[in-house]
Amino acid sequence: MIDILENEHTFHLSMQQTSMILHVLPSGHLVCLYWGKKVYGQDFQYIIQDIKRASYLSDTDGILDFKLEQMPLSYPAYGNPDMRTPSFMLQYYDGSRVSDFRYQSYHIYHPKKKLDGLPTVLHPDSEVLELHLYDHVQQVEMILSYTVFADYDAVTQSVELINHSCKVLQIDKIMSACWSFLDSRYESLTLTGAWGRECHIQHNQIQQGTFLLDSKRGASGHGQNPFLALSSLNIQENEGEVFAMNLVYSGNFEASIEVDMHQNTRMMIGINSFDFSWQLDQNESFMTPETVLIHSSHGLDEMTQRFHHLYQDCLLPPRFAHTLKPILANNWEATYFHFHQKKLLSFIENASQLGIELFVLDDGWFGQRDNDQTSLGDWTVNEKKLGCSLHDFAQQVKQKGMKFGLWVEPEMVSLQSNLYQQHPDWIIAVNNRQPQIARHQYVLDLSREDVQNFIIQSMNNLLQSASIDYIKWDMNRNITDLGSLHLPITRQKELNHRYILGLYHILDELTQTFPHVLFEGCAGGGGRFDPGMLYYMSQMWTSDDTDAIERLDIQTGTSLLYPSIVMGCHVSASPNHQVGRKTSLLTRGVVAMQGNLGYELDFTKLTDDEKRTIQQQITDYKKIRDIIQLGEFHRLLHQPNEYAWMHIYKDRIVVGYVIKLVKANTVPKRLKLKYLKAKSLYYVVTTNDIRSGSELMNIGLDLDRPKEDFYAQQWIIEKRSH
Ligand code: DGJ
Repeated sequence: MIDILENEHTFHLSMQQTSMILHVLPSGHLVCLYWGKKVYGQDFQYIIQDIKRASYLSDTDGILDFKLEQMPLSYPAYGNPDMRTPSFMLQYYDGSRVSDFRYQSYHIYHPKKKLDGLPTVLHPDSEVLELHLYDHVQQVEMILSYTVFADYDAVTQSVELINHSCKVLQIDKIMSACWSFLDSRYESLTLTGAWGRECHIQHNQIQQGTFLLDSKRGASGHGQNPFLALSSLNIQENEGEVFAMNLVYSGNFEASIEVDMHQNTRMMIGINSFDFSWQLDQNESFMTPETVLIHSSHGLDEMTQRFHHLYQDCLLPPRFAHTLKPILANNWEATYFHFHQKKLLSFIENASQLGIELFVLDDGWFGQRDNDQTSLGDWTVNEKKLGCSLHDFAQQVKQKGMKFGLWVEPEMVSLQSNLYQQHPDWIIAVNNRQPQIARHQYVLDLSREDVQNFIIQSMNNLLQSASIDYIKWDMNRNITDLGSLHLPITRQKELNHRYILGLYHILDELTQTFPHVLFEGCAGGGGRFDPGMLYYMSQMWTSDDTDAIERLDIQTGTSLLYPSIVMGCHVSASPNHQVGRKTSLLTRGVVAMQGNLGYELDFTKLTDDEKRTIQQQITDYKKIRDIIQLGEFHRLLHQPNEYAWMHIYKDRIVVGYVIKLVKANTVPKRLKLKYLKAKSLYYVVTTNDIRSGSELMNIGLDLDRPKEDFYAQQWIIEKRSH
């Protein structure tokens, strides 16, 4: 709900348990009055009136003691007495960079509409507040949009710029969201890492100066999720305050925290302004991607619940958001590029006997692709390798009672390919320079309409050629040599963003034409695990690192924002192919059951014992899959040596636990659960015990005393009384 107070100058975005309050100063500047736990009241202006003015700062508009720099500005401009980092930078035809947008009017409507060409968080009950600002000298309009998802305690923010002048305007920076805090006693919270080590949780105390988190790689990236939060010091799962921003975007982004000399803090996020600019012609408008803003006053768990509910209900493709995902077997780590029909059919036969529901044929099925040096772009099946057409191959999978999935990497072209021979100008490159090659491939210039159409057409043909239920959409290199042979000189800095818009257009077309196909996003693992991709793809390959122990940190970090139903988690071979670690099938299974279970090992080489264990795992997972994919997820422990988590769905609970290194001479310990009803009775199926919720939460489950490292346990619990 949006309350309008104080002569229509204060806007209270009022949610179930959260308030966000914006205010228009008499000068027409916008300020952030409050963001936090829900407050009730009519007049919040004292928050800024109480600020003690610093006399050495410039006054604004010639008004004595009107110090813009000390105001918690909502979307600060460059060129006024506020000398901190602005949230946007424009360059005008006359060389001026000074902007002065003042408030004009507001507009409230519902429900929110999809942002043109951009992934959008949507809900029929959402309500939008638009604040219209205008720069009279330059004749440019700015619309700040705040959408309230009251039942989800979430707000999204995006910004639109409209050029009403008859002169071209250059956007050098335009953030999607910005919030100012009259305090600096916070820590930053980020999800950082690298390929194979994605989404590790990082806390850092903030200090005067600027902290910048960004990607210049052409993708949101393995190194950093497009997420930044401020939290109270030493934040816990159930204690402390968090202010979180998650950008709904898959390309280069920047997120910053600036602590100024008065110990105020400004946080913002948006498209990376590094090597970015955008020309806005007369009557044209530019829309930023949107940012999700979530506050929690009860620690990380509450933030997680809010993100999970919002994403599952309002972001994921509705058809798949609440539908159970099939248990898949992927042949990548089993065969890599080296397979033939006989091998695959034996793999499929074995997988189907163990209960697998979807077979995914990974890289190597097309063109001349026996290694990573060739054929990307030539999306025709290698019948010699498959022994038949794709259509017939898919039929053989179906005859085994499984769905059929296929790997593609449509944004790329191999140097050795027919596509590159025919269209060398379709790649991202700079004239007269040989572009860098990575994994023997170039990146197609998705800003071009002809390239977009080629990808749409070739994927259309592929999806129509056989009965395909699932697509794994990969993207395996960073974008270097930023240049488009197609864009004019003055628009070269638009390429990164145009690439992402092109990608979203392709995905829009394909997901609309093939609504029944389950798309899994992958970018060398979790390189583009972001809300932008989740709008089109209801599942993400969490990381190329399939080691169960490495996955503990990766999945814990990912779980901070993204629900279990979107996380692809596979049981792979031991020793693990990335780190060489040996772990039991039990441990690999328990860890993979934190999300959507899959297998990525050679089904033709399993011992009878391993087959029995896997068959049992699959049978067990089918019984608890709804709890994991549709239930609430909570982290119980994530200290360096022990990890525990639980899923709750209706009256059923699954608990997972892993200890990394065991120690000598310890006595058995217990694992305390949370989020149960104290007086209710629960049946612990795994140990055949009846316990009250209060016992499980305060005394806990009995942990084994393991005699081996990397030991896991799992419990299934059912509520028996209310
Ligand atoms: C990177 C992916 O993350 C892997 O799972 C696999 O599909 C390879 N690419 C194939 O080239």
